[in-house]
Amino acid sequence: RPTLRVGVLGAGTVGTQVIRLLLEQADDFAARSGARLEITGVAVRDLAAPRDPAVPRELLTDDATAVATGNDLVIELIGGIEPARSLILAALSAGASVITGNKALIAAHGPELYAAAAAAGSDFYYEAAVAGAIPVVYALRESMAGDRVTSVLGIVNGTTNYILDEMSTKGLSFEAALATAQELGYAEADPTADVDGLDAAAKAAILASLAFHTRVGIDDVQVEGIRDVTAEDIREARASGCEIKLLAIAQRREDDHASGISVRVHPALVPVEHPLASVHGAFNAVLIEAEAAGPLMFYGQGAGGAPTASAVLSDVVAAASHRVDGGQAPRESFYADLPVLGPEAA
Ligand code: NDP
Ligand code: HSE
Repeated sequence: RPTLRVGVLGAGTVGTQVIRLLLEQADDFAARSGARLEITGVAVRDLAAPRDPAVPRELLTDDATAVATGNDLVIELIGGIEPARSLILAALSAGASVITGNKALIAAHGPELYAAAAAAGSDFYYEAAVAGAIPVVYALRESMAGDRVTSVLGIVNGTTNYILDEMSTKGLSFEAALATAQELGYAEADPTADVDGLDAAAKAAILASLAFHTRVGIDDVQVEGIRDVTAEDIREARASGCEIKLLAIAQRREDDHASGISVRVHPALVPVEHPLASVHGAFNAVLIEAEAAGPLMFYGQGAGGAPTASAVLSDVVAAASHRVDGGQAPRESFYADLPVLGPEAA
């Protein structure tokens, strides 16, 4: 078997689990991908910070550019826009296959990243960017390629679902629930991205882009977070047979009133008998509606180190097998130019 050099950018919540699983299950990954995957370097910000023993100290470096440009596969798990953007562009230009979970970056700079990948003949994978362990990027990009998706609706942020659920079922305060979500590794480095709906909006933009084969950026998404949801709102919702959930909604409309797509994120009253009302903790669920298939439902852990590592590693196996024996490459097809409708169309 050939050996592929793997560079990891970031060894935080997700990076640590990716490294642990790649090392612990090296033989399985070799068998599944057709190549031995050798981690050559792990870039971090602070070399002196305490680390999980799963991350070998001798692999750590603060030279992220060397990790980005000196490997066959580059896994970006730093998060945020810079330096993640520049590092990914450098990796793609250097011919690496890039795997990331960085939805904020994709929703802000997706077209630039796709163009760089196409120009370099490199592959760009991002299953972990939406809904943690749930393979919803693959589902929309590959499984639904033979159908016309009309809507995507779901809970795509684990932190806010955890907070709302703890407030609803245990009567915890917003602050206490957020603090626990941070301790459990669900929240973004800056949790305002979760609380104010921006993380869900980035994911909604990615889902809408894939579902409707059109470019949707974060600025196209109407966003309202959960900051203003009070314990009293939750009590009243429960008294009327509902749970409050932060929903991401992407719809295609073609009727007498509007033609285009509408993409939004906001708290909503969900009747307890609806499947989304029973999504607890940091779990996510995504309902896809397509013309021929009808409804499809995806459910699973939406945040956390190991669940997200599962999604990252599925991309690692796909990227490695594509390099080794021409296995399937990601097939984005953004051929439509659909108008994004404003709030009046919602
Ligand atoms: P963390 O904040 O836990 O880890 C970030 C890592 O990046 C740390 O190891 C940090 O180094 C390193 N880092 C930060 N800045 C730099 C830099 N300038 N150069 C080199 N390394 C740097 O993030 P997560 O693991 O939680 O998230 C990583 C990505 O995965 C993000 O894009 C996030 O949105 C995404 N994601 C996260 C999920 C989750 O549940 N946590 C789920 C799905 C996606 P150091 O350790 O030295 O500080
Ligand atoms: N902060 C994100 C969430 C991580 O809570 O859903 C998973 O993308």
